[in-house]
Amino acid sequence: MMVITMLVNMDKMLKKAQREHYAVAQFNINNLEWTRFILEECNSNSSPVILGVSEGAIKYMGGYKIVVDMVNDLIAYLNITIPVSIHLDHASSFESCKKAIDAGFTSVMIDASSETLDNNINITKQVVDYAKDHNVTVEGEIGHIGSNEDSNNNGILYANVEDCIKYVQATNIDFLAPALGSVHGPYHGKPILNFDRMIEIAHQTKLPLVLHGGSGIYDEQIRQAIDCGIVKLNINTELQMAWTKAVRIKLQDDKEVYDPRKIIKAGEEALKKVVRDKIQLLGSFHKQ
Ligand code: 13P
Repeated sequence: MMVITMLVNMDKMLKKAQREHYAVAQFNINNLEWTRFILEECNSNSSPVILGVSEGAIKYMGGYKIVVDMVNDLIAYLNITIPVSIHLDHASSFESCKKAIDAGFTSVMIDASSETLDNNINITKQVVDYAKDHNVTVEGEIGHIGSNEDSNNNGILYANVEDCIKYVQATNIDFLAPALGSVHGPYHGKPILNFDRMIEIAHQTKLPLVLHGGSGIYDEQIRQAIDCGIVKLNINTELQMAWTKAVRIKLQDDKEVYDPRKIIKAGEEALKKVVRDKIQLLGSFHKQ
């Protein structure tokens, strides 16, 4: 008998990855079709998956509950058997995390990284207390992971090791996303990641680490990052670019098409290829 997946938090999923030295991808979702494509491709590769949902994407799709219901219904309809986490990405407040948890998200990231360390600790602690009562895992951020606009100059900020230790001890979070030189969105040139810092933070905090801004990081850098303690890699922009490129070609080549299902589907294979390639690179296939 086939056992259908229930949503899970990231605890077992990422501890197993940490033990066995691979990483799990967080693929960000924007709509029903993307969610379906990602679930299908991860399931075909027997890879666990984290569906990342930003506050903007939640607003776009119609709220926290619709996202959880959509994912649950797709899992049942598609007979998905891999572990799936649904994770709030870069929550801006405790209230947002609470709404996600109440709606059934299994994991949340609180991003109070632009606050002072003490404020970041206080906000994160509040989230952790609520989340633990609901069997929900929590990711926190130290240092600020911005976009290329902040980092294309001398502004790259790497997380401070002492801050990481203090933050982890004071908050009891499950996973840490320290700023390590990656940025959200496209890079200008090769990313400059601080691997020594990565090793030191992983060693000192003992926590599974998360690397944001996974799109555009070179394959060999990703492999090295996994060796240094990264167990979760977030990918959004690469999916968006691959899907859009394929859809743009479809629209240029086929001037008659008007059915939105055909237009959206034109990006399916390109999006699935990104998912497949990342799963291979991270080593998470056949790890369910
Ligand atoms: P990219 O859009 O650069 O892949 O970053 C995704 C991310 O880190 C989401 O939190």
